[in-house]
Amino acid sequence: MKAVVVEDYDRIENIAIKNVAKPELSSGMVRVRVQAAAVGFVDGLKVQGLYQTKDPLPFTPGSEFAGVVDAVASDIEGFAPGTPVIGMVRNGSLAEYICASAADLFMTPDGVTPEMGASFFANYLTALYALSARGKLRSGETLLVLGAAGGVGIAAVQLGKLLGARVIAAASTEEKRQFAIECGADAGLDYTHEGWRDELKRLTGSHGADVIYDPVGGELSLQAFRSIAWNGRHLVIGFASGNIPALKFNLPLLKGGALLGVDLAQIGRREPEVRERVIAQLFTWLSNKTLVPVVGRIFAFEDFRGAFAAMTTRSALGKMVVRID
Ligand SMILES: NC(=O)c1ccc[n+]([C@@H]2O[C@H](COP(=O)([O-])OP(=O)(O)OC[C@H]3O[C@@H](n4cnc5c(N)ncnc54)[C@H](OP(=O)(O)O)[C@@H]3O)[C@@H](O)[C@H]2O)c1
Repeated sequence: MKAVVVEDYDRIENIAIKNVAKPELSSGMVRVRVQAAAVGFVDGLKVQGLYQTKDPLPFTPGSEFAGVVDAVASDIEGFAPGTPVIGMVRNGSLAEYICASAADLFMTPDGVTPEMGASFFANYLTALYALSARGKLRSGETLLVLGAAGGVGIAAVQLGKLLGARVIAAASTEEKRQFAIECGADAGLDYTHEGWRDELKRLTGSHGADVIYDPVGGELSLQAFRSIAWNGRHLVIGFASGNIPALKFNLPLLKGGALLGVDLAQIGRREPEVRERVIAQLFTWLSNKTLVPVVGRIFAFEDFRGAFAAMTTRSALGKMVVRID
């Protein structure tokens, strides 16, 4: 089968599609014929060896995918060949076939395309866990989303609206702000503009943001925290800017605000019931079309480098997807 293979932590241009052995089934596993795989910010870091953990070489990148069941281990029930599924694994999805644990697979609801399925899991699970379980976002509150047109950002825009919040989408370009507004945000905010906190004050009638969803980090996070409402919650999602900010402890005291960490990688182990509840809510919304995942750009398999290029040049709108079949 064909798979993208990283043999060296090298320039993205040097990663190639190779012919490799089709993965063998083992106990507890399901083999999926991949139809679409997503490329996120973390994948862009991983293939360059810049992520906090390094995958042993060689490896096939890609942690999210959608496809159809190809074959099933004899100890697994409930995944007949041909069943459409959505999955999330550590890596390996930029390939024609992948073996995944049955526990990491979910049936794709009717009407959900492979591109939507591949764009769905990590970003929407992160965003809903952050907004509901961590941020306790309530209907009528104001949610400020930083990096609002990016993968996890646009998921928070859509889910913030579903939870009844007023959503302010902050992003660096007019195109990105417009994209977030088209996806449901109530207002856009240009945070590259020096007076952006005054504009936020105006947009919130001096109240500030009740919840700040922050996948960007750096100086922007420090400035945003200064604009938090009393009893506000600042959700630490990531550091796409490349800078981890250091907040002085007097600020939470003076603002009556809380800083809350969010780590998708740990919730399954630490809060399995919460994860299950959040996933159930997401799949209910996905099935009844209340939630339609945003697919950013779709690349052909042979053009997979374009997806990585978008993720490493700050130019992506939504999630980048590679179509495989
Ligand atoms: N906590 C978790 O469990 C979890 C889960 C998933 C992802 N994440 C993290 O969330 C962050 C965003 O991931 P993503 O997949 O949404 O990425 P993305 O699609 O590239 O979005 C990131 C956004 O950050 C902004 N940004 C500001 N400075 C940037 C810079 N120097 N380079 C790139 N982007 C910059 C960009 O918006 P503007 O141009 O509008 O500023 C961009 O749209 C990453 O740090 C990722 O590791 C965390």
